[in-house]
Amino acid sequence: MADVEVYAKLLSTLPDDDDHPYRSGAWRPQNVEYDADDLRVTGELPDDLYGVYLRNTENPLHPAIVRYHPFDGDGMIHKVSFRDGKVSYRNRFVRTDGLAAEQEAGRSLWAGIAENPKVAERDGWGARGRMKDAASTDVVVHAGVAVASFYQCGDLYRLDPLTLDDLGKCSWGGSFPAGLGVSAHTKVDESTGELLFFNYGTSAPYLHYGVVDADQRLTHYVPIDLPGPRLPHDMAFTEHYAILNDMPLFWEPELIARGLYASRFHPELPSRLGVIPRRGAGSDIRWFEFDPTYVLHWTNAYEAGDEVIVEGFFQGCPEPPAAGPGGPEGRMWRFLAQDAMATRLHRWRMNMVTGAVSEQDLSDSCTEFGTINPRFGGRPYRYNYAATNEPGWFLFNGLVKHDSLTGREERYQFEPGVFCSEVGVAPRVGGTEEDDAYLVTLTVDMNRDLSECVVFRASDVGSGPLARARLPERIASGTHSCWAPGESVKGW
Ligand SMILES: [Fe+2]
Repeated sequence: MADVEVYAKLLSTLPDDDDHPYRSGAWRPQNVEYDADDLRVTGELPDDLYGVYLRNTENPLHPAIVRYHPFDGDGMIHKVSFRDGKVSYRNRFVRTDGLAAEQEAGRSLWAGIAENPKVAERDGWGARGRMKDAASTDVVVHAGVAVASFYQCGDLYRLDPLTLDDLGKCSWGGSFPAGLGVSAHTKVDESTGELLFFNYGTSAPYLHYGVVDADQRLTHYVPIDLPGPRLPHDMAFTEHYAILNDMPLFWEPELIARGLYASRFHPELPSRLGVIPRRGAGSDIRWFEFDPTYVLHWTNAYEAGDEVIVEGFFQGCPEPPAAGPGGPEGRMWRFLAQDAMATRLHRWRMNMVTGAVSEQDLSDSCTEFGTINPRFGGRPYRYNYAATNEPGWFLFNGLVKHDSLTGREERYQFEPGVFCSEVGVAPRVGGTEEDDAYLVTLTVDMNRDLSECVVFRASDVGSGPLARARLPERIASGTHSCWAPGESVKGW
């Protein structure tokens, strides 16, 4: 049996009979933090799997002031580390300023994304303001330290990747852009040790791009002009460029003027990708126009001859129809379901010499949340490992390995009632081939009322998990994750 200790139990004021669809069932939040060593493993745990899988998620502790949206919950990081055939687990809330204030107050103090900012009791964070920076969206490991971030921009919270001890906020030697904060989906370039990032807001210049070096110094930070406030969620990079975006789905300007935030898709406007030299001035950015869509996540980008090539998930339906089951809430949930958004793997090509562009779908399959072997970030690559969703839900029920070279797809479908997270791609120790790696994810098994960390062979996804390690309790479903090789982790 695993050696399990309770580290802490946080105050939760959620009702015992909570029936909110994203605070119950597979999204039932936790308020207990565990330390567990020597997890019980079934199957064959590879002895060349060596490092740390981290996963963030929204994990609410209090009812919303008016209306809870699953992007509002407090950030909780789950850590599973693999070393010498042993598996250890911890989970910790990210110790944000907002979490501390709400633990003290015993209630929600800030407006969620589906609420009028006026309901917030205090000024707060985020591109639109008066939200709680929950650091709940994303997690990466940069310079040996885990960094949790928030999609509406905020502080970057640092944690020890092994112990999950709170290491405070990124300050970058006092140069952190505290007013605007930083968006989720910072990018770590393993080849240079740099962290690339962006932030966005509702006042000009609406977007900034920056670079932090391997010594955690802010070495580059430039404003990027946009026609108005936009809602970028992710960025991409190649060896020489960063790729930012201006997508035609954004907050309605006339509502912003009244302090309200509602996004609308503008099919009459193009999607624009902005390519900027990694240390370029804002005026060096070159914009390329494509078919209108919204892209939540890019898988990767790379250079080929004169071209910059970006891949990610095109949304066939960025704004689900208002009419449909469930009234306004039902519409809110359709905005979370990738089948409703009709997401599919897509490639955008930009010729830096001629200015020519082209784009194509790489698959008809509805997938999103694609991750890659991190050694291939920004470089020519072939594979991504994406999730399929439970129809109508923000829940992942299977994995698809896309081969961008041949178009081949390999699938694994979890049994009904079992959901996974975004996978971490763990290069096999000593491996050189891109898919000589393991895939690591966490499951929520509603049939057996438990959670496991499961490990796949990346070269044989279809055969299912090689090994499973049982967690101390059934965790909440969640999304973004990362893998950090052992040698890249401080204190390993
Ligand atoms: Fe995201």
